[in-house]
Amino acid sequence: MTVTPLGIPRRLLEFTIDGEPVRAPEGSTILDACRAAGKDVPTLCEGDTLRPKNACRVCVVEVEGARTLVPACSRKAEPGMEVRTDTERARHSRKVVLELLASSVDLSTTPQVAEWIKEYEAKPDRFGPDAARLNEEPKVDNDLYVRDYDKCILCYKCVDACGDQWQNTFAISVAGRGFDARIAVEHDAPLTDSACVYCGNCIEVCPTGALSFKSEFDMRAAGTWDETQQTETTTVCAYCGVGCNLTLHVQDNEIVKVTSPHDNPVTHGNLCIKGRFGYQHVQNRN
Ligand code: SF4
Ligand code: SF4
Ligand code: FES
Repeated sequence: MTVTPLGIPRRLLEFTIDGEPVRAPEGSTILDACRAAGKDVPTLCEGDTLRPKNACRVCVVEVEGARTLVPACSRKAEPGMEVRTDTERARHSRKVVLELLASSVDLSTTPQVAEWIKEYEAKPDRFGPDAARLNEEPKVDNDLYVRDYDKCILCYKCVDACGDQWQNTFAISVAGRGFDARIAVEHDAPLTDSACVYCGNCIEVCPTGALSFKSEFDMRAAGTWDETQQTETTTVCAYCGVGCNLTLHVQDNEIVKVTSPHDNPVTHGNLCIKGRFGYQHVQNRN
């Protein structure tokens, strides 16, 4: 028998988005309501399995009566609110945020960002080469995953996923302050000397590709990574009795990475090392 979790019944709130009446369950964010209404609001640091971090501010919208623009990903919807998603002020703010981010980090592997840069007419190199935040080589210190902090927007989603929100391993955290702030493991050591258990849950939530599978990193370097040629198949992990769902990304008949559905009520996109990285035996013919 399939059990479908229904959750606690929630009152519906009534308000407007871009002048159109909408209803959203109590506790929804403005972003939830916008998505349900088919409104396109860009997001970078929002993660559907994590508490909002409110770090990038690319999702801002106008709310009637509010002095400042509000982040749609974390502001809860309220009855009677008048939300406007596409005003000149909101668009200008998103443009500047995109320019600041794209000038300081490499967003070449961030999904959808190229479309937003075009849509908001942002100039990715507006602040010149001196605006680059790090300029360092990717950290390749193990066979499973790579950390390329030149792509890191400091959203802290990996820290939350590794820490108290999911994995409780606390292998990665924020080191330094202000302009020197960066994601690091203890004593800036190689991952192999850290507390990391290689669950890969940080890769699952990283919005920019700063954390990536070694397989993806190598294929991108060789120019063979091609998402248009990949298929995705969701199946059940066979390693133990927990029964986590695995989504196998396959290119040229080889599994190139493994993700997990975020809407799974048990695992919420999280896996352990075996489910995430233990797929080599499937394609090892020796
Ligand atoms: S490595 Fe990825 S998830 Fe972690 S802070 Fe940087 S961009 Fe965010
Ligand atoms: S991912 Fe890990 S915990 Fe989940 S079923 Fe596979 S081996 Fe078990
Ligand atoms: S997506 Fe809302 S602040 Fe980043």
